[in-house]
Amino acid sequence: MRMYDIIRKKRDGNALSREEIEFFVQGYTAGDIPDYQASALMMAIYFQGMDERETLDLTLAMAHSGKMLDLSAIHGIKVDKHSTGGVGDKTSLALTPMVAACGIPVAKMSGRGLGHTGGTIDKLESFPGFTTGLSLERFVNNVNEVGIAIMGQTADLAPADKKLYALRDVTATVDDRSLIASSIMSKKLAAGADAIVLDVKCGSGAFMKKEEDAIALAKEMVQIGRNAGRKTIAVVSDMDQPLGLQVGNALEVEEAITTLSGQGPKDFQELCLTLGSCMLVAGGKARDLEDARRQLNRVISDGSAKRKLAQFVEAQGGDPAAVYDVGLLPKASIRRPVPSPCDGYVSRIDCEEVGMASLILGGGRQTKDSAIDLSVGLTLCAKVGSFVHAGEPLAYLHANDESKAREATERFLASYHFSKEAVTPGRLIRYMDFPSGIY
Ligand code: URA
Repeated sequence: MRMYDIIRKKRDGNALSREEIEFFVQGYTAGDIPDYQASALMMAIYFQGMDERETLDLTLAMAHSGKMLDLSAIHGIKVDKHSTGGVGDKTSLALTPMVAACGIPVAKMSGRGLGHTGGTIDKLESFPGFTTGLSLERFVNNVNEVGIAIMGQTADLAPADKKLYALRDVTATVDDRSLIASSIMSKKLAAGADAIVLDVKCGSGAFMKKEEDAIALAKEMVQIGRNAGRKTIAVVSDMDQPLGLQVGNALEVEEAITTLSGQGPKDFQELCLTLGSCMLVAGGKARDLEDARRQLNRVISDGSAKRKLAQFVEAQGGDPAAVYDVGLLPKASIRRPVPSPCDGYVSRIDCEEVGMASLILGGGRQTKDSAIDLSVGLTLCAKVGSFVHAGEPLAYLHANDESKAREATERFLASYHFSKEAVTPGRLIRYMDFPSGIY
């Protein structure tokens, strides 16, 4: 088999066989196929597309390019959850203790922040001592004993995707739906869960800006999951404005804790209940979505979800005191309001820019290796549809550096748009792919 023939076949619009896809993935991972030929193939796929069978074959070949995690030592049906990433998306922090308190074993691999979006691992490091560098043995034991364990993505998990993603990033071939779907699903399949719940974000703070693209991506990932024999559910949710009110690492941990106490912002609480219900049904712990919702509300009101978070933090070396006293979380030295420049209804928020404001404050990484400041970020006071008077705070800024605070304020203010007319915010849940056969 020759790479040249594979590139030409795809260039001319033909479907690649499984053997050809495996030849490419194995050869590229091993370093036998050079970047320029892999780039040419990615571009050919970008223009010619892949059918369902090719997309599945690419996903499986990438999943099998490294270790397939064996979670069979964990008791019960393992349900994973994945978000395509957004601003203020602290869902895993509240959702995992909620579902674990309902009896779903959570064995999760999470990432760090990427660009303007935050990452679960960075946020969890707001608890002093917390580590995600667990051996597989400790990871499995913690899930069996505590109900949750979260570890960082290991280098040997879908290495073909790691290499290809880096290549796509610099060859303008990231934003192809089948390539995104196979990239995400290869990691999810390799991570070993029995069922997968996907939260596909759409809007100005998401990878997919348009609802129809997000829905198409959700459907494609669900199809891959099912074809690979995993129960897969997808929800498409709004990211046209930040989720909840807090943006920034420790601030998001605080909001997750508040939500576990039953006092979180409505949109965030609703998303946790929606995704959590899917997880409980997929994991066989609830009869239907209504039953699941009842169970989730119960573990919030009786405090068991919050206790589960504390147990999980402690089991991974962290100090859980902040779960019961959020005043102990890292705090910025400067906290000041960002006043509204005018009277009016908030008509639109450029969500990615809010994420950038937090990044400028130090809450995200400017380069791959830069350290982040856990304490900084923004607390929003007005979201789409809110009426504000000139001079009233749109948000509170949390900063540790005057010049960064000034730059972030400018960026944040530019992200808000106003209207004289009343505005209705978009729906939080845009679409749900929940097959009846999953019950
Ligand atoms: N996230 C991924 O993991 N892969 C993609 O291709 C895009 C987003």
